[in-house]
Amino acid sequence: MPLDRRHLLTLGAAALAAPAFVRHARAADVPRFELGVASGHPEPDALVLWTRLTGLDLPAEVPVHWALAEDEAFSRIAASGTEIAVAADAHSVHAEPRGLDPGRGYFYRFSALGRQSDTGRSRTAPAPDAPATLRAAVASCQRFDHGQWAAWRHVAAQDVDLVMFLGDYIYEYESGPQAVRPHDGPQARTLAQYRARYAQYKSDPALQAAHAAGPWLLIWDDHEVDNDYAADQGQWLQGAAFLRQRAAAYKAWWEHQPVPKAMRPVGPDARIHHRLDWGRLARLHAVDNRQYRSTQACVPGFGLLGRNGFARSVSPARCAELRDPARTLLGQTQERWLADGWDPDRRWNLLAQQTLMARASRTPVSDHYSGTYWSDGWDGYPAARQRLLQGVADRQLPGVVTLGGDVHAHVVAGLKADFDDPRSPVIASEFCTTSISSNGAPQGLIDTLLQHNPHLLYGRSDQRGYLALQVDDRQLQATLMAVQRPQDALSPVSVAARFVVDPRQPGPQRD
Ligand SMILES: [Fe+2]
Repeated sequence: MPLDRRHLLTLGAAALAAPAFVRHARAADVPRFELGVASGHPEPDALVLWTRLTGLDLPAEVPVHWALAEDEAFSRIAASGTEIAVAADAHSVHAEPRGLDPGRGYFYRFSALGRQSDTGRSRTAPAPDAPATLRAAVASCQRFDHGQWAAWRHVAAQDVDLVMFLGDYIYEYESGPQAVRPHDGPQARTLAQYRARYAQYKSDPALQAAHAAGPWLLIWDDHEVDNDYAADQGQWLQGAAFLRQRAAAYKAWWEHQPVPKAMRPVGPDARIHHRLDWGRLARLHAVDNRQYRSTQACVPGFGLLGRNGFARSVSPARCAELRDPARTLLGQTQERWLADGWDPDRRWNLLAQQTLMARASRTPVSDHYSGTYWSDGWDGYPAARQRLLQGVADRQLPGVVTLGGDVHAHVVAGLKADFDDPRSPVIASEFCTTSISSNGAPQGLIDTLLQHNPHLLYGRSDQRGYLALQVDDRQLQATLMAVQRPQDALSPVSVAARFVVDPRQPGPQRD
């Protein structure tokens, strides 16, 4: 049915349902932008602007006007348009202004049903051939029921060009009695449940402020769907049944994030890996380590109550599968896409990915057959990691820096093509940001990792916070930020440590 006819029918049904004055009163009184606004995917001439309408009385289709301006008063409009927010997509809006100026700040807002949204700030990427600097915040793991989000409040107060979110934007779990602020509803499995979880997370004013402060680059990890999932293997469901759950979770992710229409999932599949160039300064590679990965090595059998977790500690001496070169974390196609896309001409190649890349054995390591490894991260896919890092070494790429999250600890490391060979040189740098609010492992475990893995330069699981990056041609500076009182939404946030990287000399140096 053509859009205009559907639209007329919707209006007709609404007219039958309530007298005109009631509809009018309802439209003007109900808040429509309670989940805030967001922008993302900055290109030199384009952005994505996002919002989702709220209210129980929304018609099936609602025209939403958007405007992007050069000034906060919206007197100099750079682009504007109308998107139809539909119930089938949770009344989300993904507007894609084009023809914008590179490296420029903009303001944007939406209006619908007689209401206007708050104003967000955003910024296009610099022109591909222009000199540039980059100020970015890197974050992951914002478990709502574990704590408050003073870290986001702090990010929103900085003047950042880009926020990079590396996964675990929501957690699917039902909350226990210890929750600082409980999740609503049961463990998420259905589209309605995932949507409700995003709406609860996005009701937080600090998160809304961080979204409104600048454009985001987003990738997902496991908890946007199901703990420790791998391709079509969920924690409780597998195969077609799990793919239905994954389709619901991916759709809800797309509906709630400032990502392009082109990333819209098709059933259980969604391509989210992509690149963004930041002038002549840097190429940003963003990858997906969940959708295409091999199942974790040596998983325990499938019991009556499901697998109850894939990830565990494994040792190569007892798990030959661990080192099988056919196993992959990114999938063969994405591995090749990454290897072919490193840019030798830009000063920096920043890899936005989900988890710790450096080897992190819990026991002493003397060769490829010793050590004890967590099977869900890169340590569970050592051959794939070696292929990736050997590719970096072979191409003699300057300034490769991997950014990760997932481990709920600030970790800084030098990356080697062969971690088990003490003569293998450091060829890249790693900064793994701690969680925004998810609880960390005991510091004692991190201390053990520091002891057995000399390429790990820093590790603190007792800090919540984020990573602040400042990048120019001369150096990359990474500042590890720590929230002083994680249960206090207004807590101060302070500098825990600072490292720098010289693009001609791989490896982080303490500043
Ligand atoms: Fe997490």
